[in-house]
Amino acid sequence: MTVASELPPLTPDEAAHSATLVDLVRTRIESARGWIDFAEFMNLALYTPGLGYYSAGARKFGAAGDFVTAPEVAPVFSRCLAMQCAEVLRELGPAARMLELGAGSGVMAADLLAELEQQGALPAAYCILDLSADLRERQQETLARRVPHLLQRVHWLDGLPEPFEGLIIANEVLDALNVERFAMRGGQVNALGVSQELGRLTLAEVRAGARLEAAVRRIERDTGVALPDGYESEVCVGLPSWLQSIAQCLARGVLLFVDYGLPRREYYLAERSSGTLLCHFRHRFHDDALLHVGLQDITAWVDFTAVAEAAVEAGCEVAGYTTQAHFLIGCGLEQFVSNVDGLELVERLNLSRQAMMLTLPGEMGERFKVIALAREYASPLRGFALRDLRHTL
Ligand SMILES: C[S@@+](CC[C@H](N)C(=O)[O-])C[C@H]1O[C@@H](n2cnc3c(N)ncnc32)[C@H](O)[C@@H]1O
Repeated sequence: MTVASELPPLTPDEAAHSATLVDLVRTRIESARGWIDFAEFMNLALYTPGLGYYSAGARKFGAAGDFVTAPEVAPVFSRCLAMQCAEVLRELGPAARMLELGAGSGVMAADLLAELEQQGALPAAYCILDLSADLRERQQETLARRVPHLLQRVHWLDGLPEPFEGLIIANEVLDALNVERFAMRGGQVNALGVSQELGRLTLAEVRAGARLEAAVRRIERDTGVALPDGYESEVCVGLPSWLQSIAQCLARGVLLFVDYGLPRREYYLAERSSGTLLCHFRHRFHDDALLHVGLQDITAWVDFTAVAEAAVEAGCEVAGYTTQAHFLIGCGLEQFVSNVDGLELVERLNLSRQAMMLTLPGEMGERFKVIALAREYASPLRGFALRDLRHTL
């Protein structure tokens, strides 16, 4: 973890941008009588039109940005994912469609479509829904450059679609959902939100509202452990309603979420006593969400038990849960990496490097998980054939 003083300095434009957003947050705090909860702060910091991290044109992804994601640095990730998508699309028939949530730079969509074309399994339509209007432009550019002949199949949505048959996919979107933070104080649950002092944003606690209190008590019940005094963590209180609205879009088919996270019993361990919240700024990570507001990403690990519960509540079945490594190997990673005829040495080495980054336990292999949620879909899913971790949820 980087300490604040070691972060790269801001340019004058960046500092001015952040100060404008901080003023807006302060105005919101004043109108809320001095305190807003962390989920609201996170929403303002990430999605305020024209100013929030995801809405204001910053570079974000890749070497010149703040963080990298698997499809950005390892195209073989999307090729493997395409094999799972192809299996489902074939089963559902030629009218099946796909919806990608939070498509980032559009790289995964481009690589997926290219591989699905190769496999003769293109969806009837590929829809993208992203909270960020700014990223939508970047996605359009990427797809027009990489797969121009498939562009007519791609549609950008302004809201959730009517129920359809097909696949919904999202890589690293669950971790960007707003979380509420809490702190245990003498057996009481406090909400850790944002206030201001002498014109500066500051973390401040109030007694938790009923929804957050119930969520924390549920964690204690499910883990069988009373969270100790001083314990701080976060909970995505809005997840059930968000997931339900997504799941309702699927009349028949599969939802696939890939993200870093844990089952509830491992997430809320006593020793993880300051939670999982992380901020990303120019490839450094730290836990001060009030720093560089609007210029850094804010994320939290995913409680996959909560995802499974919300899915069941929404009438879906949990059809698979496994590590990213096992999922990708189940989808044929080995064949992609060993099928190197005609490739230069440097390309082969690059493929091996991608495979290692995606699968090694110390890299992304175990930290990232894949969960499949299904409705009216009973066929086996190849990505989950090697290792089934549903019993851990
Ligand atoms: C960390 S980025 C991941 C981007 C891309 N999937 C990748 O793997 O490179 C998170 C993405 O999710 C989008 N996002 C966050 N919350 C969302 C939501 N509720 N609905 C749709 N998109 C969302 C962001 O705008 C951004 O494109």
